[in-house]
Amino acid sequence: MQRTKIKEILYSDKLDYECVVKGWVRSFRNNQFIAVNDGSCLDSLQIVVDSNNTDKDILDHITAGASVSARGIIKASLGKGQKVELIADSLEVLGRCDPDHYPLQLKNRPSLEYLREHAHLRMRTHVFGAIFRVRHSLAFAVHEFFHKKGFVYLNTPIITASDAEGAGEMFQVTTLDLNNVPRKEDGSVDYSEDFFGRSTNLTVSGQLEGELGALALGEIYTFGPTFRAENSNTTRHLAEFWMIEPEMAFYDLAENAQLAQEFIQYVIQYVLDHNRADLEFLDQRLAEEEKQKPQNERSEFSLLEKLRMVTANSFEKITYTEAIDILLKSKPYQKKQFKYDVSWGTDLQSEHERYLVEKHFKKPVIVTDYPKEIKSFYMRLNDDEKTVAAMDILAPGIGEIVGGSQREERLDVLESRMQEMNVPVEEMSWFLDTRRFGTVPHAGFGLGFERLVLFATGMTNIRDVIPFPRTPKSANF
Ligand code: 4AD
Ligand code: MG
Repeated sequence: MQRTKIKEILYSDKLDYECVVKGWVRSFRNNQFIAVNDGSCLDSLQIVVDSNNTDKDILDHITAGASVSARGIIKASLGKGQKVELIADSLEVLGRCDPDHYPLQLKNRPSLEYLREHAHLRMRTHVFGAIFRVRHSLAFAVHEFFHKKGFVYLNTPIITASDAEGAGEMFQVTTLDLNNVPRKEDGSVDYSEDFFGRSTNLTVSGQLEGELGALALGEIYTFGPTFRAENSNTTRHLAEFWMIEPEMAFYDLAENAQLAQEFIQYVIQYVLDHNRADLEFLDQRLAEEEKQKPQNERSEFSLLEKLRMVTANSFEKITYTEAIDILLKSKPYQKKQFKYDVSWGTDLQSEHERYLVEKHFKKPVIVTDYPKEIKSFYMRLNDDEKTVAAMDILAPGIGEIVGGSQREERLDVLESRMQEMNVPVEEMSWFLDTRRFGTVPHAGFGLGFERLVLFATGMTNIRDVIPFPRTPKSANF
């Protein structure tokens, strides 16, 4: 008999049918009630065993973490707390789990820090089960959104020879023997002997190749892993993260911003519609975490309220110059409570972004037209020649969730911007071909997938929303 997933059993009104259930024991009470979870949903199914007619050897090995298979009849439950239960007529332990050594065998609920150290097992807990089911739904919704709009899913390379952001934060890829590096006469490394015959790195962004796609297919998106060797040990940065990068021919900055808003609203609405139980559980978790904080640091809104606010209201749109004005007039600035200074020309720090979103506007904010010096070479120069057609979207509790721009489509302007910013013009000739041959106005953005999952789940550390986080000095599992 094929196994039935617990989700199917719990989310149906059917009764009095035979089935087989397989999963992992969460708890065993009174030598009679086993809570079994199979990962298909948050809730466990109660399996009722007749201990008088069950082998003692089996009963002795029903411990938290053990895997079991049970066959029986689904009946309406007499007890409180569940609608149905499985009355078992046969029960088998598939894999024992020694309670003295099982890392999740804890009396108190394990802390997130403890679970991070046991990331290979943490998906078995309620909280991580919920997070990764929500993460899956978000990924599915991303593809659904763009597919419905007729965008082409384009796979851009993971190994590349270019630095798409021009920021030099790349992991090198090489098969050279590091103990015996071939050198040229001048002493520099001879990459002609390397695997690709040149120096290569892991991609920081698929944007440049995405632009090639958009200027042929019209509208494309990428959804893949990206890598940054930036040494930032924060709750918002990973060395390996997933990014969604749409790129659209014939879009200007305003249309780009409109698409980004619609996109975020769509994927959040999708999880509200499809992951109710998981989100309610995460909402509770966040409420408990908030209770530990002093009153003045607590969030005004619950997770579900925050998600509904994002889907129901349009985002605020301001220019960088307006943002600076608001910050200069703000209480924390005047009371010198910001750690970093505010002045036109310097980048907004996380504390500034959070003030704008959480205190001032109380909703997501799209900041546009940043000074050209603090943004990448490919952004379109505005007529003032001081700012570029950039946009960052700032989300409550997260800060920057999206970075994008209208692209510089004018060959001469782009070339001189590249020279100004020390981006190798010769090596990027393939990229400049789009501007040489049939260039068009175009735009795009990148959304950091883990930052979206952080927002949707109300978690506060980015290490908790990717199954196996990679951060400075840490690449376990
Ligand atoms: O702002 P970024 O660096 O923009 C780009 O890479 C552009 N090429 C995107 C484009 O226009 N196609 O990164 C985009 C987003 C950020 O807003 C943030 O959400 C996320 O990627 N991000 C990170 N997420 C986790 N860890 C990191 N180290 C991240 N760096 C950026
Ligand atoms: Mg950015």
